[in-house]
Amino acid sequence: MNILITGNLGYVGPVVARHLRLAHPKARLIGFDSAFFALSTTGTTVLPERFLDEQHFGDIREIPERLLEGVDAVVHLAAVSNDPMGKQFEPVTGDINFHASVNLGRCASKAGVSHFVFASSCSVYGFAPGAARKETDPLNPQTAYARSKVNTEMGLAAINDPRMIVTCLRFATACGMSDRLRLDLVLNDFVASALALGEIVVLSDGSPWRPLIDVRDMARAIDWAATRDASDGDAFLALNVGSADGNYQVKDLACAVAARVEGVGVNINRSATPDTRSYKVDFSRFAARAREYQPQCSLMDSIQGLVDGLRRMAFADKDFRNSPYVRLKLLEAHIAAGNLTPDLRWSKLTRP
Ligand SMILES: NC(=O)c1ccc[n+]([C@@H]2O[C@H](COP(=O)([O-])OP(=O)(O)OC[C@H]3O[C@@H](n4cnc5c(N)ncnc54)[C@H](O)[C@@H]3O)[C@@H](O)[C@H]2O)c1
Repeated sequence: MNILITGNLGYVGPVVARHLRLAHPKARLIGFDSAFFALSTTGTTVLPERFLDEQHFGDIREIPERLLEGVDAVVHLAAVSNDPMGKQFEPVTGDINFHASVNLGRCASKAGVSHFVFASSCSVYGFAPGAARKETDPLNPQTAYARSKVNTEMGLAAINDPRMIVTCLRFATACGMSDRLRLDLVLNDFVASALALGEIVVLSDGSPWRPLIDVRDMARAIDWAATRDASDGDAFLALNVGSADGNYQVKDLACAVAARVEGVGVNINRSATPDTRSYKVDFSRFAARAREYQPQCSLMDSIQGLVDGLRRMAFADKDFRNSPYVRLKLLEAHIAAGNLTPDLRWSKLTRP
């Protein structure tokens, strides 16, 4: 089996590559990434990409079609990947996350790829008070990032190639340790805050609901989608990926981290304007369809993994919200240094 993983040099990618290598020892694993965050490793002494057979560098907006020759499954992770980045780079988010993703789907169909896995997001439900959202509920994306995920799902559905099994995994918010860490995710931020500041500063009023999934469980779901059988008729599937007990209020996450790290208090900004991104999600369809690939990491497993990983790095950066582990900050620094253009392309070398 040949598997192409786009965006493999991000936060989720290294965990996915490791999982796929263990699950499919004989598979040929191919990475493709623009390498924006390639140097954001977490003290690992070996390259996370050692589990791959090939690593290609390039821009998904100009994916070389030859890369898809002989590929059985595409795992499409490459994206401008959160709300603040989507806000800062709105047109580029549409170009990369939507247009380039649907184009990749078309190229994959043309090349005879049998499985196409798209990393979508539960943020497609947006502000969704009340009952947990099912796949059949209306979508209500609040941000450029969430809209790009909705548009891509629709674009992939329209390809409508009965030979290509397309699975859009609407992931809960990711958490947990990775060889390329992100600290702009709610649980990761809280653990970093606890260790570096000795307190957890919650920027919102703590009331929003957020479903969480550990990166290791994302990799399990991707493995399912890259190999699933569509004999029951669903060649195209969009489904929520997380666990039944994985919906939390932000303030409860802060308290769970505080309970794990001794001497840490929780500081909630009660006067913050309400966060419009609040949703509970129903994961029963994923539970029924992917029985052998269900999430296995508890909230405490994720917190413990982060505490251990950050302590291994001797993490103590009080200003971590401005550090390279916050993706927007790293992209802004690359642009300020002239390494990246404002439309997120590597600058060409010019003679001095
Ligand atoms: N982290 C989460 O909470 C979460 C939740 C749901 C879904 N997702 C989705 O999962 C996927 C992976 O997320 P992540 O957290 O690893 O993101 P990330 O930002 O850490 O990594 C994304 C990778 O895509 C690459 N990339 C971006 N633009 C590119 C381009 N034009 N060409 C080639 N490569 C490009 C980047 O270099 C980076 O390595 C994304 O599609 C994201 O939207 C993430």
